[in-house]
Amino acid sequence: MNESRDWFKTAVFYQIWVRSFKDGNGDGIGDLYGVYDKLEYLQSLGVNAIWFSPLYPSPNADYGYDISDYCNIHPEYGDLDQFQKVLDRAHELGIRVIMDLVVNHTSDEHPWFVESRKSGDNPYSDYYIWRDKPNNWSSVLEGKAWEYDESRGQYYLHLFARKQPDLNMDNPKVREEVKKILRFWLEMGVDGFREDVINFISKKEGLPNSLGILPIIGEMRYYKDGPHIHEYMQEFRDVCNEYNAVQIGEGPMTTVSSALKYLTGRRKSLDMMFSFDHMTADCLFTEYLHLPFKLVRLKKAFSKWQYSLEGKAWNTLYLENHDHPRVISRYGSEKHHRESGTMLATAYLFLKGTPFIYQGQEIGMTNIRLSSIDQYKDVSSKNNFYTYHLKDSIESRLHRIHLSSRDSSRTPVQWDGSRNAGFSEGDPWFTVNPNYVSVNVAKQDAEADSILNYYRQCIRIRQSSPALLFGEYREYYHGDPNFYVYSRSLDGETYLIICSFARERLPVILPKQFRGIRCRLILTNYPREREQGREYDLHSPGFRLYPYEAMVLRIS
Ligand code: NOJ
Ligand code: CA
Repeated sequence: MNESRDWFKTAVFYQIWVRSFKDGNGDGIGDLYGVYDKLEYLQSLGVNAIWFSPLYPSPNADYGYDISDYCNIHPEYGDLDQFQKVLDRAHELGIRVIMDLVVNHTSDEHPWFVESRKSGDNPYSDYYIWRDKPNNWSSVLEGKAWEYDESRGQYYLHLFARKQPDLNMDNPKVREEVKKILRFWLEMGVDGFREDVINFISKKEGLPNSLGILPIIGEMRYYKDGPHIHEYMQEFRDVCNEYNAVQIGEGPMTTVSSALKYLTGRRKSLDMMFSFDHMTADCLFTEYLHLPFKLVRLKKAFSKWQYSLEGKAWNTLYLENHDHPRVISRYGSEKHHRESGTMLATAYLFLKGTPFIYQGQEIGMTNIRLSSIDQYKDVSSKNNFYTYHLKDSIESRLHRIHLSSRDSSRTPVQWDGSRNAGFSEGDPWFTVNPNYVSVNVAKQDAEADSILNYYRQCIRIRQSSPALLFGEYREYYHGDPNFYVYSRSLDGETYLIICSFARERLPVILPKQFRGIRCRLILTNYPREREQGREYDLHSPGFRLYPYEAMVLRIS
């Protein structure tokens, strides 16, 4: 399907975290049978590509991000034949498919690690990072970054959970294995990869101790954008080039200048990168320190990436994925569910770049509130609960988990109002959010002004306008705490996007460039529909936006 790689610039992606997407065989676990049945739904949404979070065999210590076999499908999700069926059908429907490539680490149950831990002189001994003495690094997901292995009599490095030993990418044999994995999936016909924590795969020689006080932050300089990263990335790029495959890197803590080294120039090794700045408008890191939401922080992050990549590289646009709580619960308001869900869609779907929609986001799924830590499944949430703020009461620690847990994005997708939200006929592997009775796909499909139908509209409008796809971005009123106002312009055509993050009606004043010019209302999330397509006068005195109102205007 890949004549050219540039398709990604006009595409909208949909991320599937399969375990909670749709159970097709009644065992309570989402799978590729369920995905197959929902491909037409994805087409009806207007998306052009799927990113599958890991589908591979995995002991699920980190739900798929701990892989024990890279060239297979987890039996709970189906098999390679079923994957091929999904891939072929998706292609028939004009939907491309990218896989998650997780090669910073494997599962400790991967045969390479099983061998590696046996001794220091077998063919897999140097596939991982072994030391007689650990350094002082902490892991991102679980305790210290080193674990002692009795059989080998040494410590292995794990930047994430204990069951996720880091691969030694300096070993050329490991890089050959990565290239084999790329080829395996590319030969099956996939269109590219989302590359997990790819900026962490090259570590500084000697693995020096961190001198910083904060865990993780201090040592990150020794493994983020490490000394050989661009050489290794080039090797992988060469393989992907043979297939015109798209490569999207996940870049935790990445800065604009380090991202541009992957995205531009002769050594360009990635087509896009996921940055995280806009994910910290209400926290320090999603799982650690929660703060009140500040629109100005969000706008600053969006604008920084929009301006800095203009004419140089291409942005990814996202509000949700499997690593963050639901965005209505964070940046919007569960009370103003429909209004804030649609407004948030407007705020990011008209930016310049490639939008990603995470499963359930298109119907405005919200955070889950569980009554005990034992009901949560995520290793990171449990680590957070048992490691930080231990002097606080259980209630306040649980409240923190409620605000920050990755599990809020991992509850089953709410398909309809029947038992288990139509996700499964068996017992779902994880709690279904009780709000499924009012928040579900079937209901929203039938309601013209639902969040779901609004997403469909946004995608259609975006894809039919060169200015909205390729036009330059400009932000107005960046210090305003209530409104996010930006424009997109190309060849004399300009769109103005106005989003209110306020809970009350507030007057809006048009940026002075637009005063006195007629504006046509293209889209709004309030019952101003009758006025859509009409000349619109925002200049009338006392014009006020409703709570969480959003508008897209074409300036003529
Ligand atoms: C980023 C993934 O998105 C996350 O889910 C995972 O825990 C870490 N990388 C480690 O693989
Ligand atoms: Ca199943």
